[in-house]
Amino acid sequence: MKRYLSISVLIGLAVISLHGHADEKPKPNAWQGKSGEEVYNTVCFACHKAGIADAPKLGDKAAWADLIAEGQAVLTAHAWVGVRAMPAKGGQPDMTLEAFADAVAWMASNSGGDWKTPDDTLLAVIREEAIQRIGVQVTEMQEMQQELHKLTQEHLETRLQNMEKQLQNLTSRDTGKVK
Ligand code: HEC
Repeated sequence: MKRYLSISVLIGLAVISLHGHADEKPKPNAWQGKSGEEVYNTVCFACHKAGIADAPKLGDKAAWADLIAEGQAVLTAHAWVGVRAMPAKGGQPDMTLEAFADAVAWMASNSGGDWKTPDDTLLAVIREEAIQRIGVQVTEMQEMQQELHKLTQEHLETRLQNMEKQLQNLTSRDTGKVK
């Protein structure tokens, strides 16, 4: 009897903890299942319809020819990571790579190209390309950081030298007084 009781208590606890976990489940991503056209019409159109900040306009074959020539993996990866005024992920932090890549494919296909929704193999290549691109950016940022460290160091050294000079002046004045 006692044993049955403890088993039912255990089952009860398990059920409670399952419910607890259900609350912690990540919310379904808003972009999941969205077509490239839908993503474009929700996000990308804001700049790519009118060509804000020199964004290549949808349907502008001349503007897209060189981009399409870069190839689907490279162009998608570079845009995903961000290029100059093109914000990373189109400026949507929760954008999925799948939804973004489909939007790029849709845009390219409506601007003189013929790109399909990337399959798993192409997505893997895009991810690899994006990792490399981020690596280049990280190196650039680290160089900037080192440069700033150097400037800060030089600035501190100059200030220290100035303070030492001031201190020398003060002590020589003081010793002067004593004399
Ligand atoms: C805030 C404005 C803005 C939004 C929103 C935006 N873009 Fe862009 N995009 C730009 C600009 C500006 C450029 C041109 C960047 C450059 O080459 O200087 C660009 C360039 C691109 C390129 C070419 C990248 C390259 O390597 O030259 C692609 C592809 C692209 N965008 C896709 C998208 C997609 C897909 C979305 C939506 C998910 C999107 N953009 C949303 C501004 C935007």
